[in-house]
Amino acid sequence: MTNARFNLGNVTAILGTQWGDEAKGKLVDILSKEFDIIAKATGGANAGHTIHVPNPLNPAETAKFVFHLVPSGMIHDGKVAVLGNGLVIHIPSLIEELDTLKQYKIDLAGRFFISDRAHIVFDYHKKIDALEEEQKGEAKVGTTLRGIGPAYLDKISRRGVRIGEILDFDSFSDHVRKTFMQLKSQYKGLKHDIDEELKNLRDFIGVLKPFITDTSLFLNKAADNGKTILIEGSQGTHLDIDHGTYPFVTSSNPTIGGIYTGTGIGHGKISSVVGIMKAYVTRVGSGVFPTELTDETGNALREKGGEYGSTTGRPRRCGWFDALVGKYAVMINGLTSINLTKLDVLDDLETIKICTGYKYKGKNLESMPAAVEMYKELEFDYIEMKGWKTDTSKAVKFEDLPENAQNYVLKIEELVRCPVNFIGVGVRRDQIIHR
Ligand code: IMP
Repeated sequence: MTNARFNLGNVTAILGTQWGDEAKGKLVDILSKEFDIIAKATGGANAGHTIHVPNPLNPAETAKFVFHLVPSGMIHDGKVAVLGNGLVIHIPSLIEELDTLKQYKIDLAGRFFISDRAHIVFDYHKKIDALEEEQKGEAKVGTTLRGIGPAYLDKISRRGVRIGEILDFDSFSDHVRKTFMQLKSQYKGLKHDIDEELKNLRDFIGVLKPFITDTSLFLNKAADNGKTILIEGSQGTHLDIDHGTYPFVTSSNPTIGGIYTGTGIGHGKISSVVGIMKAYVTRVGSGVFPTELTDETGNALREKGGEYGSTTGRPRRCGWFDALVGKYAVMINGLTSINLTKLDVLDDLETIKICTGYKYKGKNLESMPAAVEMYKELEFDYIEMKGWKTDTSKAVKFEDLPENAQNYVLKIEELVRCPVNFIGVGVRRDQIIHR
């Protein structure tokens, strides 16, 4: 790929358009080199991605980095990474990731910032997450058990604890204890040593202090001064608390609205919004999945696509591309372009199906139903396309793709109504077509 920043403008958001795990990390990694600042807006350690890059200590070797909280752009020299106010941060997990970077002699000074308004995930949030799931039984969400929901719940209940508070440890401790006591009276089964957790957190103040700042101010000033900013979305549109398949969703807004509120950057400054769309669909955890394949084809997609959760290792459910899911994401997020990922995973298939729409009581639906109960009565329309039975992993230009693969991409573009400008054909950084 040539053409620095691909005419994306100065401030670009990258968003998941399905149920997360659309392989956002690769485009983020490619673009991180072209942007000055890489920021995150929502979610927490429920997300995760692994990248393989030259070992900073010995470039002849490859090093594997697993990131949950820190933007992967941190590994590129001189890039600035920002954790915005919309995140919920488990401090020991963050420290662990920062320690890994330090082991590779990656200097963080002056190029890593955490919003003073981001909320803290405490260990008791993780325990509450597990208790909630246990209580739901069959109806459990299948969360990542990282305490994300309970931390956002505290934020919305206005008893949450912001990361900036840690700098005044005494009043921070009072606030934490008070919140914890409220939760303890609510969750009878909650067993937790709050003193121990506070004692451990005290040790991290020195490490965190230089990084904590008003990141909204920082990002806006940077944008005003012509700096380029890449905002890395988390999860995906259909896991959105408002627009997703509620209640089987995460507790934040992984859609464009979450980018604004989670960074403090207003819509006028955002120049492009790229949606990451896998060439098929996957989902981890419970919840509706209209195009799910529970047969051999689903298993084949899982194995070839390496579809196992990067945070929990759970096997991902796999299914055909769902154009309504894609079209809805284009609409909600105002996408300006699409990166279709993992096209090569379909290389061996004889025929490939695309779900083109849903019917309810014989009527075509224009958008995703709000009530999960309705899904039981839906009918799904499919088209069947010829596979290409050819290795696409070496394609560099769109024209290098077999005709049937080109037709597949063009059909998706037509159905979701947004240009597919990037096409992923393998795991390596260079296996991406720009058109
Ligand atoms: P939570 O975000 O841990 O509360 O989980 C809520 C739902 O979102 C569950 O179905 C999770 O599997 C799903 N989820 C959360 N984070 C991710 C992610 O990064 N990729 C895919 N699914 C996710």
